[in-house]
Amino acid sequence: MADNQPKKAYKTLPSLSMQDKVCVVTGAARGLGYEFCNAFLQSGCTSLAVLDLKHDETRDVADLFAKENALDGDKKIDAIGIACDVSSEESVQAAFATIKQRFGRVDAVVASAGIVDNYSALEQVA
Ligand SMILES: NC(=O)c1ccc[n+]([C@@H]2O[C@H](COP(=O)([O-])OP(=O)(O)OC[C@H]3O[C@@H](n4cnc5c(N)ncnc54)[C@H](O)[C@@H]3O)[C@@H](O)[C@H]2O)c1
Repeated sequence: MADNQPKKAYKTLPSLSMQDKVCVVTGAARGLGYEFCNAFLQSGCTSLAVLDLKHDETRDVADLFAKENALDGDKKIDAIGIACDVSSEESVQAAFATIKQRFGRVDAVVASAGIVDNYSALEQVA
């Protein structure tokens, strides 16, 4: 990037900054989880774990976040995709072991994995 390019500006109040925080999002391959990842990155997070059921999807999303949010200078987004089924304790334990190995700690977690039933509001039972 040329020297005259503007530095990346975060859209967050300093008191709400996620700068240098290690953030973890489950169900992050799409939907709300994906947007929570974006919000963390826009708030200054540089270490992000993208968890969802399928490894190739989490890896692709993590790679995309790292590429799209690359910062100036030597500070880069370190995003890792991890296959994790949140309904399995063993899978969650393994995912967090991987995160701890990669980043050393966890600062924030959003549990967004889940199943959405789409149906008309008129079909809901009162
Ligand atoms: N979208 C809404 O308006 C809304 C409103 C209220 C609550 N919610 C809840 O928020 C959660 C996310 O909603 P969304 O709209 O992002 O859904 P979505 O279907 O777009 O995304 C959910 C993600 O979770 C993943 N997932 C599902 N089961 C998983 C498991 N066992 N382990 C790991 N990952 C798993 C899916 O693969 C998917 O990528 C759901 O629990 C939903 O019920 C959503």
